[in-house]
Formats: sequence, C-alpha cells, structure tokens
Amino acid sequence: MSIQYDYESRVDELIKGVDATFKNILEPFIYGNISEYIKQSGANIDILDVGCGCGYLTASIAKEFGEAKIEGIDIAEGAIACATSHFDLKFRQQDVVDLSESKKFDVMVYNMVLHNLQELEQTIRKTSRILKDKGIVLITIPHPAFWLSDKIARGKIILEEPFNYSLERFYQIPFQIKNGMQHQAQLTYYHRRLTTYINIFSKYLKLVKFEEVDFKNGYPTMLRIVLENG
Ligand SMILES: C[S@@+](CC[C@H](N)C(=O)[O-])C[C@H]1O[C@@H](n2cnc3c(N)ncnc32)[C@H](O)[C@@H]1O
Repeated sequence: MSIQYDYESRVDELIKGVDATFKNILEPFIYGNISEYIKQSGANIDILDVGCGCGYLTASIAKEFGEAKIEGIDIAEGAIACATSHFDLKFRQQDVVDLSESKKFDVMVYNMVLHNLQELEQTIRKTSRILKDKGIVLITIPHPAFWLSDKIARGKIILEEPFNYSLERFYQIPFQIKNGMQHQAQLTYYHRRLTTYINIFSKYLKLVKFEEVDFKNGYPTMLRIVLENG
C-alpha cells in the first residue's frame, strides 16, 4: 500500500463514514480495548498508531481519549503528508522496524497494517521492545483464510493464478470497500498463514484475545487480536 495509494480519497471516505467495516467492526474494537486499558491504568497513556495512513483513526482516537498522548507513524511519505494536512497531531514518516527503543508505549495500534508490511517478525519483535510492561497491541487484519478467497469467489478480485492458502506470497490487488469511492489504489497484501501469525505473536508477546469477525457468506473475513507484554 505504500505505493500508489490514494490517501486523500481514503480520508474523505472515512470522514463521510461510508466504510461500514471500519465504522462497525474495526473502530469499536480499538475504542473498546483502549477504554478497558484506561480503566486499569489511568487515562494518561501513550499510544502509537503504527501505519497510521491518512491519520483519520489517529485523530478519532485522540478525540475519544482526550487525556491520552497519541502519535502516528507511517513508512509512506504520502500518508504523512495527508495526515498532517488534515489533523493537528504528531505524525512522523518512519518504518516501524527502525523505531528508537528509548520511548515506550502503553498501547500500539496496527489497524489493517500487518498484512501490508513485509517484515512481520522484525515488527513484532520491535513492538515487544517498545511496549511498556502490561502494555497492549491492538491488531486488525483481513482473515488470512477467508478474506481473499471471499473476494475471489464474489468476482471482486481476479488473480493471475489460483489462490493457494499454504503458499505465503505477496499480492498487489485493487483496494475497494463496499459502496465506497473508486480509488486509484493498489493494496500490497502479504499473504501469511494463520499459523505464521500466531507463532510470531506468541514468540514475543502474550495472545489475550483472538476474534474472527465480519462474516460474509458464513465465513469470517476479519481478525481482531489483542497481544500483551508480560
Ligand atoms: C491499509 S493501510 C492502513 C492505514 C490506517 N491504519 C487505517 O486504518 O486507516 C496500511 C498502512 O501501513 C503503512 N506501512 C506499511 N509498512 C509499514 C512499516 N514498515 N512501517 C510503518 N508503516 C507501514 C502503509 O504505508 C499504509 O499507510
């Protein structure tokens, strides 16, 4: 997604609230888990929104949790340009794996990011190093077993070769949401098996929630995951 992604259309779409999955499945998960964390630790927490994209989610978290300190990072220059032009918050162009380990965070958010980055293990190892003790990681990703195959079955995506779940590889696919705007966008999708995700998560952090959600034709198309440090 760092290439050819239309962040301006995306921020418009999110402001207009037309992305139902974002509004009904992803945002409530992020808010609910930050709220729970704040109840135990107090409101004055440090949050890092990793792969913040156009900055909409970073800004909505900042609005919802006024006492928290939040910053957003993204590897893509276009993302940070878009985020800083729309929202008056701290945004920085930065690859997560190169983050300094001197500043620690209570909550790290990866909303629809892990399938988009190449270095999963390095990312989770870095995350475990910059998370405070008992800090949490909030992750949403397309369900590795069903999301792509559902799109293929409904004719939304046409691949050159048949989808093979066991083959871990990278796809460049059109980005679209139901009833959304027409994006000139390509999504970089690193397909990994569930086993790969779970093995890497559990190597560095404790898996505390694992939810299969957003059912389409009987299959869950999204995953919502909470990891904890300690
Ligand atoms: C699908 S977008 C999600 C954007 C945002 N989290 C949201 O929910 O609207 C994924 C973002 O992750 C960013 N990204 C990919 N690899 C990254 C990395 N190594 N470090 C930081 N950001 C990265 C991409 O540039 C892209 O903006």
